[in-house]
Amino acid sequence: MTGKFATMDIKDSDIIHDEKKEFMHEILIGLSKTRKQIPSKYFYDDRGSELFNQITRHPDYYLTDCELEILNSYKHELSALLKNESFNLIELGPGEGIKTRLLLDRFLADQLSFSYFTIDISKKYLTKIIDQFNVELPQLETIALNSDYLNGIRWLSANSSKRNFLLFLGSSIGNFDLNSSKEFLGMLRSFLHPGDYLLIGFDLLKDIEILMRAYNDEAGITREFNLNLLRRMNKDLAANFNVDTFHHYGTYNAYTKAMESHLLSKKEQIVYIGALKKSFGFKEFEPIHVESSQKYTLSQIENLANATQFKVVNNFTDSKRYFINSLWMV
Ligand code: AVI
Repeated sequence: MTGKFATMDIKDSDIIHDEKKEFMHEILIGLSKTRKQIPSKYFYDDRGSELFNQITRHPDYYLTDCELEILNSYKHELSALLKNESFNLIELGPGEGIKTRLLLDRFLADQLSFSYFTIDISKKYLTKIIDQFNVELPQLETIALNSDYLNGIRWLSANSSKRNFLLFLGSSIGNFDLNSSKEFLGMLRSFLHPGDYLLIGFDLLKDIEILMRAYNDEAGITREFNLNLLRRMNKDLAANFNVDTFHHYGTYNAYTKAMESHLLSKKEQIVYIGALKKSFGFKEFEPIHVESSQKYTLSQIENLANATQFKVVNNFTDSKRYFINSLWMV
């Protein structure tokens, strides 16, 4: 069996997605605000993705190890849940595929009947994962949907009556603010069928020192990851940021319960963005907000499930109780 791209004939995803235009537009809006901000999705160019992969391997960023421990501990239980039927295993954002492999290997060894769908807006990530799984797991039917998550799920649900088992791993939901996560999960829920499952990762609120270390790692990889956003704008938007004149500042916001990353201008300066034909002034110490990573309490997770009309089936946690993979059902 070989992996392939699905031909999605739905209107929204047919609209040609001009990534550069969207990037320019969001930078213009974000840097024109009184409180400057840039959406964190723009971290992930080639270098940014590589730096993020390095972060996930650094011990200060405990999240990945905790989630790997959970998936390893409960993969048998998840496999048993799905053993009597044919289903779609759907992953939102494949990443490096290391966590998914734990489940895929278990499900294949247990001879479960399923196809693996991976959804991402970036064709590059999808091609990589398809090529990798074609070589490493030739017996697996891998289907890539090149789309945003919601349109991908909507298309899949409309085109298959099998039970869906969705994976939204790695605390990705944490990069949505609380209102947007409710809106996103509510939409997701509306495209699913009764009985469908969602396995979703949440990073738990914990000792602030541990959180601070995770987003200010000792090796300075997170710092590089954040500053790379300025390098990306220099490269892709002909900007002239002097990266050395910005400082990475990762902090905890006690009111929103989120870790936040800011880039602070070390001096008063003007930056020109060629693609926008526009200059932006920075005051000394002025921040650009580049990321929020929401941390959750157990009751917040349960409230979020209730508010979006999912039922919490189980909360799987690691031995340190740092992270939760929550299993929800429609
Ligand atoms: C991708 N996302 C869940 C990571 C997080 O923890 O918010 C991105 C990240 N930012 C800094 N370190 C990791």
